[in-house]
Amino acid sequence: MDLEAFAARLSALRERALQAVAATADPPSLEGVEATFLGRKGELRALLGGIGGLPPEDRPRVGALANPIREELEGAVALRRERLGSIALEVRLAGERQDVSLPGRPLRRGSLHPLVETEREIARFFGRYGFVVYESPEVETDELNFEALNIPADHPARDLWDTIYVRPSAGPEGTDGEQSQDTARLLLRTHTSPGQIRAMREMSPPMRVLTPGRCFRYEAVDASHGSEFFQVEGLMVDEGTSMAHLRGLLDEFAHAMFGAARATRFRPGYYPFTEPSVAFDIACVSCEGTGCPACGRSGWMTILGAGMVHPVVLRNGGIDPERYQGFAFGMGVDRIAMLRFGISDLRVFLADDLRFLERF
Ligand code: PHE
Repeated sequence: MDLEAFAARLSALRERALQAVAATADPPSLEGVEATFLGRKGELRALLGGIGGLPPEDRPRVGALANPIREELEGAVALRRERLGSIALEVRLAGERQDVSLPGRPLRRGSLHPLVETEREIARFFGRYGFVVYESPEVETDELNFEALNIPADHPARDLWDTIYVRPSAGPEGTDGEQSQDTARLLLRTHTSPGQIRAMREMSPPMRVLTPGRCFRYEAVDASHGSEFFQVEGLMVDEGTSMAHLRGLLDEFAHAMFGAARATRFRPGYYPFTEPSVAFDIACVSCEGTGCPACGRSGWMTILGAGMVHPVVLRNGGIDPERYQGFAFGMGVDRIAMLRFGISDLRVFLADDLRFLERF
């Protein structure tokens, strides 16, 4: 081999090496190409190893020919390595790309549950007459749910308000029989009336309160009875409060809720905690009083119970019945909402069915 042949082979090697480097698609193949041409057992070394065949006077020129080419190839490999690295990064970034310019999913706007809406409507009405909302607990003592409301343990009226009892977690198992004598025993309140006692003990006359909230009863559930329902209780205590005030106020209420022309009536009723007691009826909202299946052909619908607060109950609330009188009323929010919206089955209120809820 002479110098010319050496230079030609060197140049061919350079060509192939540059092409091979340019053709690599990933770092491992670049490593391979580098080893093939520039490695310890690579082609350049092999070519240089063959210079023994050159005439001695040509040998010094070998380095001058080969070194720039090695440097060029090394530079080409380094450049390619960098390029492959940024290609890999671009590929990864493209894979992880999130298009933040897409519009978000619209937040659906909720609306008030028909029971909440009705409860607020009721509170708004009585608020105009000076009644303030007084919150009272859902888990109540036997004393406030029954005893203080003039319903002793052996009173037959208890059957109307059978409920679910809460066993205090500290209590030993199997002592329910003994606990039933205990007025501190806890239960799920069967009505909002215990709120009357709480309010009377906390405030003093003149007072006007509304105690809205969830109530519970042990019920055979059907279209008009739920084991969980809502009431609004009203209580007014002042000097000279009379049945006429109650009648006038409830009349206004019926007109505000069900139309100014709505006929109303008081019917005698019975509650242990009011005396006298009444049922308050409005002319049937579906037949306007002529009689239909919805009102049992009577033309009337009962919307609440009411009466003058029993003197025993006033005393239990710490109020002197010789000086003060009071009236109280209690209504089912579910019932009022059913009549307002023409709903025939109260089970829909708590069924969490969007098809129903979205209509409000
Ligand atoms: N607490 C009675 C009930 O749940 C309703 C009521 C309240 C009656 C206040 C009279 C006075 O049926």
